[in-house]
Amino acid sequence: MNAVAPPAEILVVGATGSVGRLVVEEALNSGYRVRALVRDRARAEKILPVQASLIVGDVTQLETLPAAVDGVAGIIFTHGGGAGEARDVDYGAVRNTLFALGGRPARVALMTAIGVTRPIDAARLEAETRGWKRRSERLLRASGLPYTIVRPGWFDYNEANQHQLVFLQGDRRRTGTPRDGVVARRQIAQVLVASLSSAAADRKTLELVAEQGAAQTDLDPLFASLASDPSDALDAVRDQDNLPLAGEPASFREDLQRITQPSSR
Ligand SMILES: NC(=O)c1ccc[n+]([C@@H]2O[C@H](COP(=O)([O-])OP(=O)(O)OC[C@H]3O[C@@H](n4cnc5c(N)ncnc54)[C@H](OP(=O)(O)O)[C@@H]3O)[C@@H](O)[C@H]2O)c1
Repeated sequence: MNAVAPPAEILVVGATGSVGRLVVEEALNSGYRVRALVRDRARAEKILPVQASLIVGDVTQLETLPAAVDGVAGIIFTHGGGAGEARDVDYGAVRNTLFALGGRPARVALMTAIGVTRPIDAARLEAETRGWKRRSERLLRASGLPYTIVRPGWFDYNEANQHQLVFLQGDRRRTGTPRDGVVARRQIAQVLVASLSSAAADRKTLELVAEQGAAQTDLDPLFASLASDPSDALDAVRDQDNLPLAGEPASFREDLQRITQPSSR
């Protein structure tokens, strides 16, 4: 299964977030049926359109997720944890959702962040959020599912005339400031939703920024211009090889082994 077209049902993880709620809107506008994973139904009812079906779950509790993924053709991840939650939320959401899927097919769009491959001091290997976001990317690549990974620049730091999307690869913008790139939340949502139905977006990883100019209406040529991630690689095609697997946390290496051995999921 390469691309998922409307009116299939998709799951949004992080649906009540600042990008996730726009993903829900964009997906509904594109004709998808949308299931929104939420922690607090009453709060979500105030935030999300009535057309979205709400399913209560917590990404840190694997047992709450099988019902959320049951029967969906696609999953869009826009979640994010607070301080100290990188392992359990930023990584855990992808880990637990993929394990809840249990090898069933689904097209995945994962939002991480520009600069996710910036080097990490050995002493902070398990503390840095970007390390766990990068591990979530690695687990998704290893899963064998069709995917697109979008690493946006700084949300809504764009000027009013800055809407021409630019897809980059290699993650070499590393100041950790808006100088690395900026993009509107609405456009991030559009790219994530468009990736699901684009065969050209499969197994692609991109940094997403905007420059001065008008927004493109067709994103397929942008996806098609990207190099694919190699089928056996944990990192994106042009990423720097600066996080050796041997030094990664044992729990992550166990997850990798489990995701690549369907019988043990
Ligand atoms: N700001 C930037 O410029 C920028 C740039 C690039 C990337 N990013 C990354 O983008 C990510 C998301 O950003 P955002 O502004 O959309 O975040 P946000 O508004 O804080 O939304 C986070 C979402 O994750 C959900 N969530 C958190 N913990 C959960 C759990 N245990 N179970 C289920 N859902 C959970 C939240 O649900 P609740 O509503 O229930 O809390 C919410 O829907 C962040 O991690 C950030 O690192 C940010």
